[in-house]
Amino acid sequence: MTIKKSDVVKQILGDRTNQTPAKTAASAFASSNIALCKYWGKRNQELNLPVTSSFSISLDGKGTSTEIQIANTSHDIILLNNETVSIDSVFYKRLQQFLNLFRTSPDIFFYIKTQSTIPTSAGFASSASGFAALTLALNELFQWQLEKNELSILARLGSGSACRSIWSGFVEWHSGTREDGMDSLGTPFTVAWPELCLGLIFICDKQKKLSSRDAMQHTITSSVFYEIWPTKVANDLSAIKNSILEKNFFSFGKISESNSLAMHAMMLAAWPPINYSSPETISVIQKIWQLREKGLSVFFTQDAGPNLTLLFLQQDIETISQYFSDLEIIRPFANK
Ligand code: PMV
Repeated sequence: MTIKKSDVVKQILGDRTNQTPAKTAASAFASSNIALCKYWGKRNQELNLPVTSSFSISLDGKGTSTEIQIANTSHDIILLNNETVSIDSVFYKRLQQFLNLFRTSPDIFFYIKTQSTIPTSAGFASSASGFAALTLALNELFQWQLEKNELSILARLGSGSACRSIWSGFVEWHSGTREDGMDSLGTPFTVAWPELCLGLIFICDKQKKLSSRDAMQHTITSSVFYEIWPTKVANDLSAIKNSILEKNFFSFGKISESNSLAMHAMMLAAWPPINYSSPETISVIQKIWQLREKGLSVFFTQDAGPNLTLLFLQQDIETISQYFSDLEIIRPFANK
């Protein structure tokens, strides 16, 4: 029997499945996250269960704020960055399907105001922070009082990588082996690295043409390189955790960059090929490699979009800022 999302929700909420909202309004914020060891491929498309585990860093403070209210309307009202989202759009339908899982009666509708501080669908994982913030806001509205582990599982039902955005800092998403995915969730890797800096390079904020969901599936079915991906991820994940424990930045940067390049290489080897890079992405990558040849310790990672995230240490902030003028610098552990 195929397990549905609603079965997972029932399992987590138990008696609370039919509990009406305890509040009239609630709000929540979730930071986005960038995978250093990527999630690329689902073993179960309905439940967003991944083929491999993955590992991310939170974009502390950059993400999504969501306000939720019960609406006296005949359908959900969704506002994204102060603009009403059309009920025919893919974005609306994705959110509506997620909300359907939590409606206590078919005529309960929500008013959702969501504000994103990162470009939507341009490879800075806005869906991750979006679904995480929505899950946290629902938990507040209904007063379910769920544990973070449970919230992580619910957020995953909206978007896989959202299960990592429930936490801050470094987070591992354990692939799990269970069919119902109750062991597939994010947990924090509780090591701080105060000197670690991320630099967001916005190359393009246009919506991507091919969703990660479709691109992943296409890669699995048509890229000859997919076969070796799980082994690469297992090796990278364990090495990246060691590099963090040892504060070995060179190893940390190298593994993160190599993992990202391998994901994109795998997509280029699919047929028809998938390319998320723009000419500017490639030219920035070349610039990073040239700077590294000159001795600057800077690395990058790229999600399913043209934008890049630089990885470097605090000691190089000034030099890096000179080379990349509009860099948005994030220090995930600065205030911890
Ligand atoms: O969670 P999704 O469906 O948006 O997929 C995320 C895929 C990547 O961002 C490319 C990798 C990752 O692990 O976040």
